[in-house]
Amino acid sequence: MSIEQSERLKRLPPYLFREIDRQKEAVSSRGVDIIDLGVGDPDLPTPAHIIEAMKGAAADPANHRYPSYSGMHDFNAAVARWYKQRFNVDLDAKNEVVTLIGSKEGLAHVPLAFINPGDLALVASPAYPVYSIGTQFAGGKPYFMDLVKANQFLPDLEAIPLEVAKKAKMMFINYPNNPTAAVATREFFEAVVAFANDHGVIVCHDAAYSEMAYDGFRPMSFLEVPGATSVGIEFHSLSKTYNMTGWRIGFAVGCADIINGLGRIKSNIDSGVFQAIQIAGIAALEGDQGCVRDMRRTYQQRRDILVDGLRSIGFSVERPRATFYLWIEVPKGYTSAGLTSRLLTEAGVVTTPGNGFGAAGEGYVRMALTVSRERIQEAVERIQSIGL
Ligand SMILES: Cc1ncc(COP(=O)(O)O)c(C=O)c1O
Repeated sequence: MSIEQSERLKRLPPYLFREIDRQKEAVSSRGVDIIDLGVGDPDLPTPAHIIEAMKGAAADPANHRYPSYSGMHDFNAAVARWYKQRFNVDLDAKNEVVTLIGSKEGLAHVPLAFINPGDLALVASPAYPVYSIGTQFAGGKPYFMDLVKANQFLPDLEAIPLEVAKKAKMMFINYPNNPTAAVATREFFEAVVAFANDHGVIVCHDAAYSEMAYDGFRPMSFLEVPGATSVGIEFHSLSKTYNMTGWRIGFAVGCADIINGLGRIKSNIDSGVFQAIQIAGIAALEGDQGCVRDMRRTYQQRRDILVDGLRSIGFSVERPRATFYLWIEVPKGYTSAGLTSRLLTEAGVVTTPGNGFGAAGEGYVRMALTVSRERIQEAVERIQSIGL
């Protein structure tokens, strides 16, 4: 029998990282010691007190049954307390919080609750790919808002044509931003709320990197802006804050009607997060936050070594205030793919081509601070040695 995939799958854009994956395999099969600055996956372990909480909870049979669809009350209440403490935002744990199997899961599913076939969703380019793919899976179409340096990598809302704004049902924004490492201003969030009210657009703000910020800077929540809780929700992840990418736990908070829509989709698709993981999540949110301070210190040191090193060999690179990414302009004469390929094949350094995150990412590569300081230093030396 020939197995035919759905139009939905056939319409997916080509996987732009395929070529880099192929080259990575070829280079490592030659025995080259690869330094991987490609993946946004923390190399540091989950803090011990979180693992201990999980161990105890995993042994308790009460946690072996199906969890509640929307999340354990205790986890959702811990989220609400964390929001109050961190952002001074009040949330009703019952109606304004939903637990997610990682924030990616919620981001991918939320369009199913609000997008009808043919509707538009406003999505940044470059961006984490899930926003546009989730929109397409729901039958909608992404309208790309380019993130450019001249506008501090914030979408220019005034450049969105009126007929597009009218047809748009949702908008996805993400600050601190992957891949550009840009941060948002309060004025930008206020403009988003005004735009959402003017055009009836649901806002999804992805705040996965809100805790990964440096030099004393603390990113704000979108929900701090007056009126935001009437138009939008915010996604968070325990993945990066507590080095828990493999555990699969995150949450969305904000407008009760939007949370309810996402929750209804989820209750028909999944059965929630293993309760022992939610109990570990409570330990993460309510335990000693020294581990988060350590995480920031580690990435800030790595950031400085990489930024200073790359600048010293002629690269044009901003020192990011948040995220564990550097968004680096390629030297004259290179494309994103061309530079990525040279760095990999000649220096054994994996980077991510900016156009893999959308057409407007062309001309950039992304480097992730997910290897040790020594390896970062070595990566700089290797890049210097190939003489770009
Ligand atoms: C911007 C952004 N949002 C969401 C996620 C997904 O995180 P999670 O592990 O919570 O699914 C990532 C992961 O890299 C990300 O970069």
